[in-house]
Amino acid sequence: MHVSIEPRVLYFGTPVVLVSTSNEDGSANLAPMSSAWWVGQSCMLGLDESSKTTENLIASGECVLNLASSALVGAVDRLALLTGTRVVPDHKLRKGYRFERHKFGAAGLSETASEVVRPPRVQECPVQLEAVVDRVHAFGEKDSGVVAVDVRVVRVHVEESLLVPGSRRHIDADRWDPLIMKFCEFYGDGRNLHPSKLAPAWGILGPTGAMTG
Ligand SMILES: Cc1cc2nc3c(=O)[nH]c(=O)nc-3n(C[C@H](O)[C@H](O)[C@H](O)COP(=O)(O)O)c2cc1C
Repeated sequence: MHVSIEPRVLYFGTPVVLVSTSNEDGSANLAPMSSAWWVGQSCMLGLDESSKTTENLIASGECVLNLASSALVGAVDRLALLTGTRVVPDHKLRKGYRFERHKFGAAGLSETASEVVRPPRVQECPVQLEAVVDRVHAFGEKDSGVVAVDVRVVRVHVEESLLVPGSRRHIDADRWDPLIMKFCEFYGDGRNLHPSKLAPAWGILGPTGAMTG
């Protein structure tokens, strides 16, 4: 039997992407996001227009999409309630966000130079996609506060152990264990992995029906 409901969010499960961008002074910002989908060599990123990541993407036109494996869940959760925006917007203050200038350090992740774009890659991420912005679109209802950023991947870096043996073009799906965000909770290999700071900030009930985090 199906029931008709009004869910708090429609986050049924998408991979977590750590987006690195360059700030105006050349330092790096890093932010987790998961409203991402892919066609061909391009990716559409659904982003809060008040985020530092969005500002940097529009100003510089470049980023790296670092795909987080489930092993990186702790680092992702440490970034969950941080922003690179110095004056934290009200809607984030209410959820408990704070400004952090050194996101890589706060997460315990390391910067490594990119080859084509200026923002650094996340060394610990098994997949790192250097990308440039093609277009920025309005998204959702009027004044949603969300934009869709259309980026094109220009260089792909993959941890060698993920490749189908003997191939340089095929990733072995069995070897790649992406960190998945479902309803603000962290999953890998179909299992809940780690308490989520994001879930209580968004007022989402955890897997057991209890508030998590
Ligand atoms: C797992 C996870 C997934 C997230 N997904 C998104 C998303 O898809 N879009 C978005 O705008 N924010 C998303 N966020 C929230 C951003 O990380 C948050 O807005 C952050 O402050 C952005 O950092 P910035 O202001 O430095 O760019 C997500 C956070 C977490 C922890």
